[in-house]
Parts: sequence; C-alpha cells; structure tokens
Amino acid sequence: MTRSFWKSAAPNTNFPKLNENISAEIAIIGGGITGITTAYLLAKSGKKVVLLEAGTISGGTTGDSTGNLYAMVDKRLHHIQSKWNEDTASRVAQSRGQAVNLVEELVNKYQINCSFKRVPWYLFSETEKKDETIEKEIKAAAHYRLPVEEVHDLPIPVKVSMAIKVEGQAQFNPAAFVRGLAEKIDSANCRIFENSEVHHIEKEEDLVLSTDSAKVTAKKVILATHTPKGIYGLQTALYPYREYAIAAKLNSGDFPDGIYWDTEADFHTSMRTYSKGEDNYVLVLGGHHKVGQEDDYSCFFKKLEQNARKHFDVASIDYEWSAQHYKPADGLPYIGESSDDNIYIATGFSTDGLTYGVLSAMILNDQLNNRENEWSDLYKASRFTPVKSAKNFIKENLNVAKQYIKDLPGKAEAGSFDEIAADQGKVVEVENEKWAVFKDEKGQVHCQSAVCTHMDCIVDWNDAEKSWDCPCHGSRFKATGEVIEGPAFLPLAPKDPAAREKE
Ligand code: FES
Repeated sequence: MTRSFWKSAAPNTNFPKLNENISAEIAIIGGGITGITTAYLLAKSGKKVVLLEAGTISGGTTGDSTGNLYAMVDKRLHHIQSKWNEDTASRVAQSRGQAVNLVEELVNKYQINCSFKRVPWYLFSETEKKDETIEKEIKAAAHYRLPVEEVHDLPIPVKVSMAIKVEGQAQFNPAAFVRGLAEKIDSANCRIFENSEVHHIEKEEDLVLSTDSAKVTAKKVILATHTPKGIYGLQTALYPYREYAIAAKLNSGDFPDGIYWDTEADFHTSMRTYSKGEDNYVLVLGGHHKVGQEDDYSCFFKKLEQNARKHFDVASIDYEWSAQHYKPADGLPYIGESSDDNIYIATGFSTDGLTYGVLSAMILNDQLNNRENEWSDLYKASRFTPVKSAKNFIKENLNVAKQYIKDLPGKAEAGSFDEIAADQGKVVEVENEKWAVFKDEKGQVHCQSAVCTHMDCIVDWNDAEKSWDCPCHGSRFKATGEVIEGPAFLPLAPKDPAAREKE
C-alpha cells in the first residue's frame, strides 16, 4: 500500500466519533485544509459549527498533497488571462497570495509546528521548445506585480533552458498544519468528529446528515469534500485526475529550498525538498492521468523514481503516494452556495488545492456571515460560462459517455476468479452482471458489484493503490468496497462469492 510522507511526519489527532444526535448552525463535511480552516474561521466569528470527517483529520487529499503554497496556478496565469481577461488573472494571483498570507499568520499565531517557510517558486523549460511558455508566464507575473525574475540556472541539479523565479511563495507540511489548527479551533463553538462518515443528506425543515451511529441537524451544510458528495449538475464541469508522488532519501548533494515545476508536457513533474530528522529528501511529483482509465498504475511510481535518480544521488525511495484533483471546465474553482439551497461547495481546485482550500475558507466565512467578499463573484459556484467551458466540457463528457460502454456484456476483464492473482482485483462477469472481485494475499476473494454507487459507471482496478476507481466522476472504493473519496456516498454493493461457485 502507498503511504504519504506528510501524514507520517504529522502528529495524530484523537477526536471522538459522533455517537449522539446533535444540531448546529453549520455542518461541515470533510476535515482537510478546506474544512478545518473554514471551521476555524466560522467558530472564531461566533457561529456554532459541527465538523464531520469520515476518517482522520487531514487523512485524505490534504495529507496526500505537495505541501506547496503559491500565488501562481497549475493552468498558468497567462492561460487564465487569455481564457478570461487580465483582471481575472490578476485577481486570481492576488486572492491566492492572500490565502498564503493567512496560513503564515495562523502558523505564527498558534506556533503550529509544520515547517512553514517562504521559498521561491520556479517554472522551467528543459529545452528551448518550451521557452515561449516561460516567457509568457514571466510577462504575466510581472504584469500582476509578482516578484518575478528570469533565470537560466536552478539551485537543483537540473539543466534548464529558461526559468521563471517568483520569490515569497511557501512550503509546509500540510497534514501537520491542518492537525495543528484543528487542535486550536474554539471548541465552545465547534465540535469535531472523526470516523464519522456521512452517508446521506436529507432535506427536511433543516438539513439532516446521517452517519452510521447518529445524525446532525444543521441550517447550512458545507461540502468540504474536494468534490461535492451526491449528484450535482456541476459534476459535468469537474474532471477527476490523479497524480503520483515519491519521497527519495538523498545520500549527498545540495539541498536547496524551493518549488520546482517542469513544463515538459508528457510527465509534468514538480520537485521540492524536505528534511525529516537527520534525513534529507527530495519529493518528486507528477504522472497525471484521468481517474480509473489506466492499465498500469504502478508505472507512474517507477517513472518518478527514474526522474529522481536522473538528477539526484538517491539512497532509497521511502514513501510513495498519490492524490486526486478535479479540473474545472473553465479553469477556475467553484466556491459558494451550490444549486441546492443552503448547501455550499468548494471544488475544482486542479492541483492548486492547498491555497484554494484556504481561500475557500475565507470566502465561505464571509458569505455565511453575510459579509461582502471581494473574491466571491470570481469563484461563484453557480456561474454559467458556456464559451469558456465548451472545449473541456465536450471533450471530458464524451470521455465519460465512453466509460458507460464498459457495462456492456463481454466487456469484463476476466471470466473466472482463477484469472485473478493474489493481492489483485479484476472486473468479472457473473450472470450478466459486472462484479469487482479482489483476491487477498491469502487467496480469499472479496466480491462486490462493479457498478459505482454514484451514477452507475463500472469501476476499474488500481493496482498501485489496491482500490476500485470510477472513471466517470472519480469515486474511489477500497478493495473491499468501502468509499475512499469522490461523490459516491455508499459502498459498492456486496456480492456472495458462493453464488458464483454454485454456477
Ligand atoms: Fe460518478 Fe462513479 S463517480 S458514476
């Protein structure tokens, strides 16, 4: 199984499980950076809040992220400028810069031990082919008054053609920050529960959130779940991707600070360094692909390792993990009230989620306190942008439509359980149904329906993470069917392997 460097280097939390029916003004689902920062700000403003986390605080995408905070964006500021306009690109950079400042303020205020530091951010081209991208980004960043510089050498041992350097960005351990902040939340106004997975939201006079053991009744609900839970039209404008990360322990060599992004289109790596005790690590991230649509998921770790060894004196690869992100159709996140009254969302962060998560908290805090927020309109969740969204919308939704073909007869990966190796899974056809069958290391089979409980796509086995991943909207399930993440509320339906053996 994969494991995240950040989670292993962060203190554990010990919040209780929800065991009694309670009520609150605002219920937040999700204990990542978005949920916890929002809970902190709302509780501080005097709102009565309940936060429900399905697993442990920062145990999801936040703890699997890069630990980088920056005003720039994965999509590039000059692309935002050409798709939208100069004012939009400028406001994106400004708003993201303010979110990074808030993290720094909280770290200092509460002395959160999360290795926060200001570092430069670089985007580089290895060949002249990509210099034009760098030139455009330098121009855009300078125009928006970011502290930018053109450079032709990096402090890391990677030969570059051209690079942009932006001073004053930041790095931290995101799991340590979020867990540290969770401990500082005003407990008189905010109750936090772990291991309290919400499997249903009912609209009565108020909103009622059900977990296995109890219910929360709230006037308003914030889905800080990375993508909204349940079925929303917005899911046609959110496209799920995964990316991989390794932490390589170094034998020797320079160990400079900084965020390093490579423009090479085929793999798009990003690098950074981090010290843990006496050990120096370089973290290499990349290998972006659509969720649930690969044949070989493990190859991404191998490619990252090759990349690390190409540039650094690597002693060992100590951690491997991956994370999901959701690309928005028109290039900007969706933050604010959803199409459902009193349900708020924060999603579509692409790979820039730590900064956008904090920015979401700032916006949602103002909205729920009926205060003006200068960024609300920019990221409005209910915006309609057909022209800016059209290209991605058509491409991605045709891709989703294609995934439903996998439910046709004869499209299974195996005809019998014998074709499945130990510790692996395959989709098997059983009496015209698709089953997701996992064979554990002892040879015992675990069978569940392969039909995703969100909107009926057929899930795909992820050999690197031992999970069932849905290619349509990114729901992911454990090998034994329980929900890991994504819009699905319910686990894959269990199936009885004895029924198959009787055939
Ligand atoms: Fe939507 Fe699976 S996530 S159908």
